[in-house]
Amino acid sequence: MLIDTYGRTATDLRVSLTDRCNLRCTYCMPEEGLSWLAKPDLLTDDEIVRLVRIAVTDLGVTEVRFTGGEPLLRPGLVSIVERCAALAPRPRLSLTTNGIGLARTAQALADAGLDRVNVSLDTLRPDVFADLTRRKRHQDVLDGLAAAHAAGLTPVKVNAVLMPGRNDDEAPDLLAWAVENGYELRFIEQMPLDAQHGWRREGMITAEAILASLRTRFTLTPEAGDERGSAPAERWLVDGGPARVGVIASVTRPFCAACDRTRLTADGQVRTCLFATEESDLRGALRSGAADQEIAAAWRTAMRGKKAGSGLDDPAFLQPARPMSAIGG
Ligand code: GTP
Ligand code: 5AD
Ligand code: SF4
Repeated sequence: MLIDTYGRTATDLRVSLTDRCNLRCTYCMPEEGLSWLAKPDLLTDDEIVRLVRIAVTDLGVTEVRFTGGEPLLRPGLVSIVERCAALAPRPRLSLTTNGIGLARTAQALADAGLDRVNVSLDTLRPDVFADLTRRKRHQDVLDGLAAAHAAGLTPVKVNAVLMPGRNDDEAPDLLAWAVENGYELRFIEQMPLDAQHGWRREGMITAEAILASLRTRFTLTPEAGDERGSAPAERWLVDGGPARVGVIASVTRPFCAACDRTRLTADGQVRTCLFATEESDLRGALRSGAADQEIAAAWRTAMRGKKAGSGLDDPAFLQPARPMSAIGG
């Protein structure tokens, strides 16, 4: 088991498959992109599957989510999913993607054993999409969502970040659209994880503001009996249900006390938290011939260094050196 010194057990592993992305969301990275990891620094497909196997068989991980950057850019994705789905015990497998190219691969991913997807989409307006992501790919994302739904990668969740003066008037429209299409929409408070270090608390659309905006058009009732538990999203029934909407209020209502996550970066570093300032190198151990048990022990030791929380409310808070796109969201 991966137990930290605050008594939390990590059963949910998030694996970043690449730090690259084909969008340039303004709240994430600059127009010119970032200095990407070099190929030899990335874990190979075999190394990823081996680490997932160790996590599942020796460390009690039951959920594996593949992230990026943009994980669909990883050539071996379908095969990685297939090999992870063949592990015993079989972990639940999910993917967080921007949806570009998902129309082409959704069925193959489902066939390989992927259980579900979360797709990022911040706006229903193609011009606002082009402004926010600096790419004209809005239709690709809509097509990807439809394909994921058709392939049974459900529940299909949609992640939206609202930015002041750009799409913060769209919350009710996004919700009406998601309900109509059978997607579970979640709004995410923007976190200080952008590569440009441009985040300001005053410029963030809060959970409170999002809920107030949604309530201008919908009746929201807290989902009965739904303990938030370790899930980042708090959920509400929309107009009595069964449709639901979630809000991930990482900044104003942090859920660190119930966190059940451990992370692997694309270059094989364990991160105990999105906001961790230190990492532990598993790639070095892998490449110097360490046995499974040694790698498992190194992972356990890393998790004992997990801090109580994100530190966001600490006046001395420092943004981690890696941006969100290189951590894996
Ligand atoms: P589900 O299991 O489908 O609920 O996944 P999820 O919401 O945990 O995953 P997803 O990849 O869709 O992430 C949605 C948002 O939650 C992103 O902005 C993530 O950065 C954020 N998130 C994921 N894990 C954590 C975490 O441990 N802490 C914080 N603060 N935010 C997180
Ligand atoms: N704060 C909150 N969410 C973010 N995402 C990317 N950058 C940030 C940020 N700084 C979202 C993406 C995607 C999910 C993985 O995280 O839009 O939906
Ligand atoms: Fe790419 Fe996701 Fe960053 Fe947008 S938020 S640029 S989709 S990694």
